[in-house]
Amino acid sequence: MKEKILVTGGTGYIGSHTTVELQNAGYEVVIIDNLSNSNRGVLDGIEAITGQRPTFVEGDCTDLDTLSRLFAENPGIKGIINFAASKAVGESVQKPLLYYRNNLNTLTNLLELMPSNGVKGIVFSSSCTVYGEPDRNPIDETAPIKPATSPYGNTKQISEEIIQDYVRSGAPIKSIILRYFNPIGAHPSALIGELPVGVPQNLVPYLTQTAAGIRKELTVFGDDYDTPDGSCIRDYIDVVDLARAHVTAMRRMLENDDTDAVEIFNLGTGRGLSVLELIASFERATGVKVPYRIGDRREGDIVKIWADPRLANEVLGWKAEADIDDTMRHAWAWQCRLSE
Ligand code: NAD
Ligand code: UFG
Repeated sequence: MKEKILVTGGTGYIGSHTTVELQNAGYEVVIIDNLSNSNRGVLDGIEAITGQRPTFVEGDCTDLDTLSRLFAENPGIKGIINFAASKAVGESVQKPLLYYRNNLNTLTNLLELMPSNGVKGIVFSSSCTVYGEPDRNPIDETAPIKPATSPYGNTKQISEEIIQDYVRSGAPIKSIILRYFNPIGAHPSALIGELPVGVPQNLVPYLTQTAAGIRKELTVFGDDYDTPDGSCIRDYIDVVDLARAHVTAMRRMLENDDTDAVEIFNLGTGRGLSVLELIASFERATGVKVPYRIGDRREGDIVKIWADPRLANEVLGWKAEADIDDTMRHAWAWQCRLSE
């Protein structure tokens, strides 16, 4: 019998790639998504890649009754991967209650229903945003959490605390909290990828849309930072590498009885790349020029952050493997497919 995993937000960017990796690893996937930032067509992409269509429930995780029904109708769910959340930093400043309600009620509902439905473990999507501007790089999991600079970032910090408090209260569950650095790219098949709505705020979708002629030029937000080329540095991680880590984390929770109830891992490559280096990688990998100009700094940007991923490497036995140029090729293939 295949083990059943609930993937919330499973038609979203990281959720769809993780569903593919879970199915490839032999798990049966049930997705719940309210389609607030994705669409049903993603299920076709997943099916085309894996030959299996996950069970799909269109519903909102902030609704406890919807989730209760899901568990009743899909008995035997052993683990949850919780991607469902609102994730736009700027919007969260404008609409804080939407972010607190959506991201926190989703988590508390899931946690509440786990023990009575026999669900052993939950993987939670956190972010390197909890570290703020690091005092040193690469940054490991023991680094201090800095005050959040947006309601979105705060939901990640509070969510981590909610999980810790719930487990500390004696709840019979386990959790692995994954702090993602900057997920980019798409599945090599170009059948699934990121679906940015409106004008992209993140670098790679803006870059690929500019290369496709949808945007006139990319603005590099500042070249006068204290970095080798003056532009900001991030740890860009291929979304398929990221997805694979979730399978490893799930397996660890379900198959090992002697691991800590809550574990936290950075998911990054361990390598920092500047904005200008990323543009150069895209041009090298695709042969397509990206029109760009240097603009003002973006308010609130972290100057430089990259992961120390050794804990995930050693404990999870997971390592980011993708070559950045391949990742940029996949991002471009996905953009070309979207532009068709
Ligand atoms: P995404 O928006 O593509 O996917 C999230 C999915 O959740 C969407 O399909 C959306 O429709 C769904 N959803 C939102 N609220 C829901 C609700 N109440 N009930 C049911 N479905 C709901 O985002 P993503 O990039 O795949 O991110 C997944 C998770 O990873 C999020 O928790 C996000 O905060 C976190 N994360 C993302 C990044 C990133 O840069 N992409 C970085 C760090 C952490
Ligand atoms: N950038 C540009 N031009 C653009 C867009 C971005 O120069 O048009 C630069 C930014 O200044 C930054 C880098 O590209 O230096 C990356 O910016 P992103 O917006 O792609 O990513 P961030 O690191 O700022 O933030 C992202 C998510 C957050 C998440 C964080 C860590 O938006 O939600 O990664 O996971 F918290």
